[in-house]
Amino acid sequence: MTRKRKSIHGQWSSRWVFVLAATGSAVGLGNIWRFPYMTGTNGGGAFVCVYILCVLLVAIPIMMAEIMLGRRGRQSPINTMQALAEEESLSSAWRYLGWMGVVAGFMILSFYSVVAGWTIDYIIRAGSGIFTISSDIEIAGYFDALLASPERLLVIHTIFMALTVIVVSMGVRSGLERAVKFMMPALFILLIIMVGYAMSTTGFSRGLSYMFYPDFSKISAAGVLAAMGQAFFSLSLGMGAIMMYGSYLPEKASIAKTTFMIAAADTLVAILAGVAIFPLVFAYGLEPDKGPGLIFITLPIAFGKMPYGEFFGTLFFILLLFAAWTSSISLLEPAVAWLVENRGMRRPRASALAGLIAWILGIGSLLSFNRWADYKLFGKTWFDMMDYLTSNIMLPLGGLLLAIFAAWLMKRQSCVDELGMGDGIAYKCWYFTVRYIAPVGVLIIFLQAIGIF
Ligand code: PFF
Repeated sequence: MTRKRKSIHGQWSSRWVFVLAATGSAVGLGNIWRFPYMTGTNGGGAFVCVYILCVLLVAIPIMMAEIMLGRRGRQSPINTMQALAEEESLSSAWRYLGWMGVVAGFMILSFYSVVAGWTIDYIIRAGSGIFTISSDIEIAGYFDALLASPERLLVIHTIFMALTVIVVSMGVRSGLERAVKFMMPALFILLIIMVGYAMSTTGFSRGLSYMFYPDFSKISAAGVLAAMGQAFFSLSLGMGAIMMYGSYLPEKASIAKTTFMIAAADTLVAILAGVAIFPLVFAYGLEPDKGPGLIFITLPIAFGKMPYGEFFGTLFFILLLFAAWTSSISLLEPAVAWLVENRGMRRPRASALAGLIAWILGIGSLLSFNRWADYKLFGKTWFDMMDYLTSNIMLPLGGLLLAIFAAWLMKRQSCVDELGMGDGIAYKCWYFTVRYIAPVGVLIIFLQAIGIF
């Protein structure tokens, strides 16, 4: 028999709210900022192809496992792992997996907040109409000027972190739920409009073939690792964010169905972002491998030229900010829930403390673009290092360990009970992928990236 627990933090009012919230966590800068530039720096179509394979064979089964563990444990990931390990008579050292997630959450939020800050700056610029009267070179220059100013970066990083702390301190129902309900559909509609604009440019067919024609000679082992990392990052997997959200999921909701909806929405948004951006890159003679500045240079050029660009530009960056916001709250939530559970703190204090830690770490990221630009470890700045360590190592490693926990160590009956989809073919497919394909896939990609395989 399943032992039913209750979360002390509350519960989503329905499974739809969970789907919205988890989609809110998944869809963010990872889809619209990171996916296009990663595609551009790692070989275009081949990267997209490996990415989609990783989503299907690795990320979706692990996401189901993560939600399942969360709902069964109904606590912060650290306590959930500890409770489930005890329940299954396993070592309580499994709680360190929860800890790794919390650390990864701080690290991601620290650089995420800096990039989200850029969107705040761009809302103001787009609203001022400056893109309409600037040349392409001037627009590229704005981005460089922003990165060169630590003071400006600090202000917008601080604003974004404060926004995150405010919502998290309001709690599950009033804070998180309200935030996601309107923003997601609006962002989706705007992306469709941008794809419409991209179709009208001369670069459309080149953009499409760049994204969808896989030339596997263009992708390296490091590129394959990056594609897997992107799948974990984009679906918020491997660090406990989705486990935390799963802990607020009502008892009856189908984990399999909700997972497919979240993964489909996330992938669709990433692909739409690529289809909106690459045609512009080619139409305006830009380079696809520009790196993190890609959307902050290409899109303003497009907004400068399109009809009503001032309006669409401002709206786009506002929605991007909201998408980032609904993701950042899920990065902070596991640490906050732990502080509430184990330290007896109230949510506002716990949120402020956790936000402060991420804010301090973020200063390293914003200095990476100016004063600390020359301090590098293995050729990477602090910002690059935070991004690389979390996406390419900590999240896939977290996912690998979660898969092992769920499919190798938990009792089969516990999984059957919690997933609630019976013991038939659908269950067996999940069990097989999460037991063999996903862990072996992650391992091979790891080994290949360090040159062993
Ligand atoms: N999935 C988010 C995005 O694509 O922007 C980023 C993210 C959120 C990563 C939460 C990890 C996480 F736990």
